[in-house]
Amino acid sequence: MLNTTRFDFPRLRSLTRFLKPSEPDLDKTTPHGARVVCVASGKGGTGKSILTSNLAVLRAQRGERVLLIDFDAGLANAHLLLGLAPRFDFGHVLDGTVRAREAVVEGPQGVHLISGGVGRHALANPTRRELEQLFEALRPLEFEYDLILVDHGAGLSYSTVAHLAATSTLLLVTNHEVTALSDAYALYKRAQMVNQHLRVGMVLNRCPDERSAAMGWERFKKTSLQFLGTHPELVGWVPADEAVGRSVQLRKPVSLCEPGSAAALAITKVAGWSAIETARTPSSFYERAKKALR
Ligand SMILES: Nc1ncnc2c1ncn2[C@@H]1O[C@H](COP(=O)(O)OP(=O)(O)OP(=O)(O)O)[C@@H](O)[C@H]1O
Ligand SMILES: [Mg+2]
Repeated sequence: MLNTTRFDFPRLRSLTRFLKPSEPDLDKTTPHGARVVCVASGKGGTGKSILTSNLAVLRAQRGERVLLIDFDAGLANAHLLLGLAPRFDFGHVLDGTVRAREAVVEGPQGVHLISGGVGRHALANPTRRELEQLFEALRPLEFEYDLILVDHGAGLSYSTVAHLAATSTLLLVTNHEVTALSDAYALYKRAQMVNQHLRVGMVLNRCPDERSAAMGWERFKKTSLQFLGTHPELVGWVPADEAVGRSVQLRKPVSLCEPGSAAALAITKVAGWSAIETARTPSSFYERAKKALR
């Protein structure tokens, strides 16, 4: 079944290229659209947004149509990392000012972004009804891209858990410290509970050296195996690198402004994670996310 849908996908995708995005009936006949990779962490500040913004430009450089959805609603900052100042965000989509497509802005390497918005309490704490509305509004975008990267806020918010239940592929970002690893484990455990088919990759970011990354990974793997009987794939580790701080100041992903830096080289390896190629759901991602809310 899965192989059949994979096999059919390129043909369907080339068809959808010629569809007007607003043709709802045709959208319904398309079984699925973009591949979707969710980027999440237990602890805050582990580097999800840095990683997601760089992955977006690196995958766009490969010729993919990439949409970054900043689902850190109310505290969004991916636009800053891409040097963008979007006029509209989730708030405007929810209050009906614009449709989701009209809130999308274009950034470096042709990456598209929709921002979760900044500062509004209602966005940071959406009701189930609002989330459902948002998922419904985002659904048509699935058919316009090859790859959607979802940057989440830290922790196990209702919206993150709905995404975990819906997605086929999760990139779990942690640091090597025990607190970050412990929170990553909590998120991993919850992800396993809500979605047994999930492919999970782990990135250890901002590590002082390879040894600390390896130790962090071994600790996580051992605990996961012991208590859950399974563990994520190790996708890679990214060193703590001042080039990242400089790139944030410049509001330009480090992969673009310092592509030869240690962090950029490590992130390039993450961008080659094989699961990104196969990150498809058997049916519409946002339909699945909506169902997960019920
Ligand atoms: N590999 C790295 N080397 C040095 N600094 C880094 C690295 N990765 C991230 N940082 C720094 O860590 C800070 C937090 O990164 P980022 O905003 O990506 O974290 P986050 O997980 O998205 O945070 P939040 O949970 O608040 O969304 C940034 O200021 C960034 O400059
Ligand atoms: Mg972030």
